[in-house]
Amino acid sequence: MSRPTILRVPPLSPQLHEAVGERYDAVDPADLPARAGDVVGIVCTNTGRVGSELIASLPNLGVIANHGVGYDNIDVPVALARRIAVSNTPEVLDDAVAETAIALLLAVRREVVAADRFVRDGSWPAGAYPLTAQVAGSRVGIIGLGRIGRAVATRLEALGCTVSYHNRHQVPDVSYAYAASPVELAASVDSLVVVVPGGSATDALVDRKVLDALGSDGVLVNIARGSVVDQPALVAALQDGRLGGAGLDVYADEPNVPAELIALDNVVLLPHVASGTHVTRAAMRELTLANLDSWLADSTLRTPIPEMEA
Ligand code: NAP
Ligand code: 8YV
Repeated sequence: MSRPTILRVPPLSPQLHEAVGERYDAVDPADLPARAGDVVGIVCTNTGRVGSELIASLPNLGVIANHGVGYDNIDVPVALARRIAVSNTPEVLDDAVAETAIALLLAVRREVVAADRFVRDGSWPAGAYPLTAQVAGSRVGIIGLGRIGRAVATRLEALGCTVSYHNRHQVPDVSYAYAASPVELAASVDSLVVVVPGGSATDALVDRKVLDALGSDGVLVNIARGSVVDQPALVAALQDGRLGGAGLDVYADEPNVPAELIALDNVVLLPHVASGTHVTRAAMRELTLANLDSWLADSTLRTPIPEMEA
């Protein structure tokens, strides 16, 4: 029996690219349009756009398996209108992403990267490094108390922080204080961690008003999507000293990071690596392929996106 044809939308990690090639009849964009009619499934990641044009060009497409929990790279309404199944990779990456949020918060507050530079550039013999802020005892707000947000919250509690949050809906089974808006939350905390999905509903949710409410001693940590923060407003707030600092894993136009951000000392910049551990990426890969296998076997998914269940 011939193997099902799966389109690999780049960029995929070498391991995922290879795994799809071993298991299925894999095709790449260069093979289209000659093979477009054969394609029944897509594998993609958050930076591989699966838009309406691509979907329309694949008449027999039945499933899109996203290697990532966030799926703002996929035109979901268009896919669902064609009854195309869409899966993502929730839960298996919660620990890795949450610890990246904590790492960024600690790195910015304790000036870990700047202090490292201080040792390397030979500044230490001329005098001690300046004192820094402390995370223990501080108030941290989380925008997006979902799976990852809750994993961030438990780690913050262990560090001795007071946690509060903002979601559209109040979470019933937590004791953290709820704020009705991002501005209200930002005004009541020392640091703000952003963990909401990307897409039009959260576009620039963190805007100038939120950044100003966080204030000149405040720190923003964004491990969600670059689109969730108004990036020019963030750069301006950091440059003007209206915001104390930022720890960023995601940007408006990845992999392009504005030179203005790179020039700042009060930021720590990561290249979208929050889930990037060996163990987590292996689990994400397995879940992505399990979703594909499941759909190919009996048209079900292990982890369908919530819109499909609705
Ligand atoms: P989740 O469990 O669905 O949690 C999302 C949370 O955001 C929910 O609590 C939701 O609560 C809240 N939310 C959604 N829309 C909102 C809005 N417009 N305003 C305020 N709150 C809103 O998702 P998750 O698994 O924790 O993942 C969250 C996101 O993190 C992903 O979608 C992805 O974009 C990002 N992420 C990034 C990386 C990385 O490598 N940097 C890795 C993994 C995930 P309500 O529905 O009540 O509003
Ligand atoms: C990954 C992510 O960087 O899960 C997400 O939403 O952004 C990250 O885990 C990405 O999906 C890797 O393929």
